[in-house]
Parts: sequence; structure tokens; C-alpha cells
Amino acid sequence: MKGVVLAGGLGKRLYPLTKITNKHLLPVYNLPMIYYPIMTLCEAGINDILIVTGGNSAGEFLRLMGDGRELGLKGLGYTYQKNEGGIADAIYLAKDFVDDDSFCVILGDNILEGSIKEGVSRFKEGAMIFLKEVENPQEYGVAILESDKLIGIVEKPRVPPTNFAVIGVYIYSSDVFQIIGNLTPSERGELEITDVNNEYLRQERLTYKIFDGFWGDAGESVDALLRVNNYVAKRKKEDSNLWRIHPL
Ligand code: DAU
Repeated sequence: MKGVVLAGGLGKRLYPLTKITNKHLLPVYNLPMIYYPIMTLCEAGINDILIVTGGNSAGEFLRLMGDGRELGLKGLGYTYQKNEGGIADAIYLAKDFVDDDSFCVILGDNILEGSIKEGVSRFKEGAMIFLKEVENPQEYGVAILESDKLIGIVEKPRVPPTNFAVIGVYIYSSDVFQIIGNLTPSERGELEITDVNNEYLRQERLTYKIFDGFWGDAGESVDALLRVNNYVAKRKKEDSNLWRIHPL
């Protein structure tokens, strides 16, 4: 399975921190933010990765990570998203890289403590998402559940149907590019990942797993960035084996 890390967008919710630099280069304790999703993929055995960047300081990713060997990767490629066209638009740029393989997408501002390995190894075809119970579901894509049957996903609802957020880790078959190709932009002008996942649900090809571990969206607000930084700092001091890089 291949890996795709999304690191585009303008990070406006973190202005002026992101006015001149890319959000995913900001620190999360002692490492740049983008290292964390890369380590999550590596831990799951995915070491052929494409980074989709955009906005400010795109060239700095290459300066930071080069060919990825220092991060334990066998292959690291880069591509550029010209406009902030949405998460699904960014994923579409990975079409040639993915070819007819399956792949795991992770949002570059999502910090996970815990493994996605089991989901990766169980994935067969279609799409797989990961859910996490949170206190502020209205900030995220939210699962609509009937007991434990997933019947829909709503993006940032004012009145959340459940407390289960869809975290920024998605596994797809290569036919996702066909689905994205048929999407129309939402009211905010973006190709929405929630529309992609709802289409897989409509086709009865969407499975989900509850993510067991810490999950933080460090790009959600300055407070979330601080919260995630404090959490990671605390956990790394308690256990130096967490979020370790294993160079090739
Ligand atoms: O963090 C999980 C949430 O991420 C999900 O629950 C939501 O369903 C999903 O829509 C997304 O919501 P956000 O509002 O947090 O998305 P954001 O615009 O912050 O984008 C997340 C990452 O995707 C960000 O780190 C950069 C990347 N991105 C985003 C856009 C809009 C791109 O690479 N290109 C883009 O055009």
C-alpha cells in the first residue's frame, strides 16, 4: 500500500503563524508537524509516500526531508496543489503516483498516538475511515450511526448527530479518482472528502474502525495546536519510544 500526506491549504485558522510559512512545518514539540503523519504511515509499514503541498514555503519540504531516507522511507515524492481546492482535490493529484494500488491518505495536521496497522492490513477494497469519540464533533466530519451501523457522514454540522468524528486518515482503492472526478464543489468551493466517503457508503463499500489512541487535529485552531503540543511533550517525556524516527 502507498501513502499520501496532504500538506496544502493556507492554514488561515492559524494566521499570522502561517502567513509566511506552511502550517505543516510548524513545530509540534520537538519535530515539524509533518513528521508525525509520516511516522504514523511508517509504523503501519507504508514507506512509499507522496506529499501534496501548496501555499507557502512549498520548497522547504524538500529541504527538510529530501528523499525521505532519514525518516525511514524508501521513496518520498512531492507534488503541488495550486489552489485550495479541498482535500479531495488534493488527493486527485496523487493519481499517477498511486496508479492501480490502494493507498492511505493522512492529513498533514493530524497527530496520532496509536497504530493504524490493523486497519491497513485488513483493508481489501473500497474505502476505510477511522472514527474517534470527541467532545467537539461540530468541528469535524461526523458519523451518523444507527447502533453501530454507519449510515452517513455530515461535515461540520451545527447539531452533531453523534460524538464520533471522522479523523483525517482514509484508505482507498484506486477507483477513488473516478469518484473524485465526478464530484462538484461544495458551497465553500471545495471538493469535499465527506462527499467521497458518502459515495462509498452509497455503494456499500465503506468500512470504519474506531481509532484507539490519542488523535489531535493540530491545525484546527491556535488552541488546538497548543493542546497537541502540550500532549506530545508530556507523552514524549513519559515514554521516549513514542514517535521515534528510524532512518534507513
Ligand atoms: O482533521 C479531520 C477533519 O479534517 C475531518 O473530520 C473533516 O471531515 C475534514 O474535512 C477535515 O476538516 P478540516 O477543516 O480540519 O480540514 P482542513 O481544511 O484543515 O484541511 C486538513 C488538511 O488537508 C490540512 O492539513 C491541509 C490539507 N489540505 C486542505 C485543503 C482544504 C490540502 O492539502 N489542500 C486543500 O485544499
